[in-house]
Amino acid sequence: MESGDIAPVPTAAWWQAAVIYQVYPQSFADSNADGIGDLPGITSRLGHLATLGVDAVWLSPFYRSPMRDGGYDVADYRDVDPMFGTLADFDALLAEAHRLGLRVIVDIVPNHTSSEHRWFVEALAAPSGSAARDRYIFRQGSGPDGDEPPNDWQSVFGGLAWTRVADGEWYLHLFDSSQPDLDWLNREVHAEFESTLRFWLDRGVDGFRVDVAHGLIKADGLPDVGHTNQGGIIGRDPLPYFDQDGVHEIYREWRKIIDSYPGERIAVAEAWTSTVERAARYVAPDELHQAFNFEYLFTPWSATDLRASIDGSIAACGAIGAPPTWVLSNHDVQRHTTRYGALGAAGLRRARAATLLTMALPGSCYLYQGEELGLPEVTDLPPDARRDPQWFRTNGAEPGRDGCRVPMPWSGTTPPFDFSPGESAAPWLPVPASWASMTAERQAANPGSTLSLYRTALRIRKEHPALGYGPPLRWLDTPTGVLAFVREPERDTAAGGAPLTCVVNLTEAPVSLRDVLERADLGPPLLASDRLSGDQLPPDTAAWW
Ligand code: NOJ
Ligand code: CA
Repeated sequence: MESGDIAPVPTAAWWQAAVIYQVYPQSFADSNADGIGDLPGITSRLGHLATLGVDAVWLSPFYRSPMRDGGYDVADYRDVDPMFGTLADFDALLAEAHRLGLRVIVDIVPNHTSSEHRWFVEALAAPSGSAARDRYIFRQGSGPDGDEPPNDWQSVFGGLAWTRVADGEWYLHLFDSSQPDLDWLNREVHAEFESTLRFWLDRGVDGFRVDVAHGLIKADGLPDVGHTNQGGIIGRDPLPYFDQDGVHEIYREWRKIIDSYPGERIAVAEAWTSTVERAARYVAPDELHQAFNFEYLFTPWSATDLRASIDGSIAACGAIGAPPTWVLSNHDVQRHTTRYGALGAAGLRRARAATLLTMALPGSCYLYQGEELGLPEVTDLPPDARRDPQWFRTNGAEPGRDGCRVPMPWSGTTPPFDFSPGESAAPWLPVPASWASMTAERQAANPGSTLSLYRTALRIRKEHPALGYGPPLRWLDTPTGVLAFVREPERDTAAGGAPLTCVVNLTEAPVSLRDVLERADLGPPLLASDRLSGDQLPPDTAAWW
């Protein structure tokens, strides 16, 4: 470039501002009437996602699996479970998604395999000290006869993290006993996963969601934690089996592979860490592209807490040059409609307001299937319907995660609301009759519905030059319990240089917008999560100007 030329405005990579929609394959759409969602079902409903206006779909696992942990127990990383279809069905899904302009991200589960994986079957048949056992973490027990576990580690799902095999050795499983942990100090494990990444990249996927990205390396010598109650799936305490520095070397290897493919393919880390700063290490420029922001997900519905969480996330990501991400729900946590409403009936109002807040923040957003319908957690599933190993391993003390995995209500007036076609088997989890008013079909016809709110919000987010990744966020002075910020477009674009202002009222009383924004000339908002009366923003409501 000649000196004096104007530097071109760097176009942000697609993922830096992307809205990525998580599909839980068992519960999205069933094509063959067995009551279980599958890949052709997803393909048939991709139009819903294109109309919604998301940029990409992340598919939770659909690989060969005994389904002891919803498919996060993989028996073959390079094949589709017959329950979900075939590799040809996957190729068809990918082609249709790309035709609709949707990218596709698949899950990769490197911390553990299923106990039905060929490697673990070999390990059990092989003697202590063999190469087959070295792919996993087998150890002698403690105590005089070795009949105590090697250390005090607990399974995230409850109970011991060790199970003893016939010849007396123990193997480590941070999750269910059917999910033995791999030994990432073994180069063969690296090579195997590198081939698996290439297998899916060669098929054309746009990226990976890395399961338990923080778990692959364990502290040297597998030291005791020293106490029980070690945290569970959403634990954030420092532990010798999570967030060890050695994991980063693995992601530097993976990044080279991903970058060697054309198109901007990405990887997003599921990494539970003790601080947002430690989470940001996973998104260093030579590691993964994104990490879920669980800190934000668990922030209570409080203006002070949310503002601190937003500032902390932006600062931690900014320090490492990565765009922040935002998420409110996924297949492991109570749906946010219910989470926010735990103290009263305000859940859906808060969830809708939280959506406008979240979509106005700089960076990329992850949505979980059904949140665009405002679905609540199903809290009254009968015990015999439950499938989550967390429920079984805690003898029902933890209800587990089935309540956020209930099949999607598409249309019609009776359960399962066209989740399955025609005369079909009962859905794998019962769908509440009360969801008749929440189907996608009903909501599409109603401009005031949550689905319509999501569609409009995503359209504005795409079109508005102040939204997305780049433009900074500037907080306005507000009364206690009210959040207001402005996003300024970085420079005038063809679309116009108007800033976007987002205001959220988290108090129990209406607030006057003229007072908050100190503007007399306030027109109607671009979008609001509920109706305004005059210049009054009702409680638990957000709006964009
Ligand atoms: C995190 C996944 O999101 C969760 O569903 C699964 O149970 C664990 N990892 C174990 O793979
Ligand atoms: Ca099916």
